[in-house]
Amino acid sequence: MSEFAFIRPMTRNDIPAVATLEQRIYDSPWSVRVFYDELAMENRRYLVAERDGVGIVGYAGLLVVESDAHITTLAVEPRARRHSLGTRLMMDLVAAAIESGADHITLEVRMSNQGAQRLYQKFGFAPVGLRKDYYRDEDALVMWANDINGLDYQSRLMGVRSDLTAAGHV
Ligand SMILES: CC(C)(COP(=O)(O)OP(=O)(O)OC[C@H]1O[C@@H](n2cnc3c(N)ncnc32)[C@H](O)[C@@H]1OP(=O)(O)O)[C@@H](O)C(=O)NCCC(=O)NCCS
Repeated sequence: MSEFAFIRPMTRNDIPAVATLEQRIYDSPWSVRVFYDELAMENRRYLVAERDGVGIVGYAGLLVVESDAHITTLAVEPRARRHSLGTRLMMDLVAAAIESGADHITLEVRMSNQGAQRLYQKFGFAPVGLRKDYYRDEDALVMWANDINGLDYQSRLMGVRSDLTAAGHV
């Protein structure tokens, strides 16, 4: 069975599988309805990572309002983690944000979620504040990556991409 996952836009047909994965991963999962509603909105971009013979092993989403993009979700199936899928989904989300005309990207992440924060730091996200009680049981760290069309940011992305290439992950 191939280890390689393809990343492509999420379709309505993917939603049952995505929602099943969401339930396995999150304590307060989005419902199927939320995914349908999100996918129906024009300023959203949703992606899935799909492995031949396995199915959907990751997904991610973005909304764009004028020059600001907001990452709404990012998840990788537990057994598929630490093989750069999160990084590849982030690469494509950032590309989608740029294509949609964004200059900055923000997200919220659990204060305790050090792994995800390290991933976001690779993409130039820096902490700017807290959202108290954003989650049922925890505060959120708010992170921003600014000036994503600038040269510095583009060379950061090239660095991430060349690490992926060196590791044989693209
Ligand atoms: C966060 C998540 C999407 C990362 O997916 P992934 O495919 O494992 O990510 P990658 O393999 O691309 O990891 C890239 C880097 O992020 C950091 N990282 C990711 N997971 C980590 C962990 N558990 N602990 C420490 N660092 C971690 C590392 O620096 C890693 O690089 P390395 O493997 O070369 O050390 C995945 O762990 C997940 O789905 N978690 C549950 C849902 C979640 O927390 N989503 C984020 C919500 S804000």
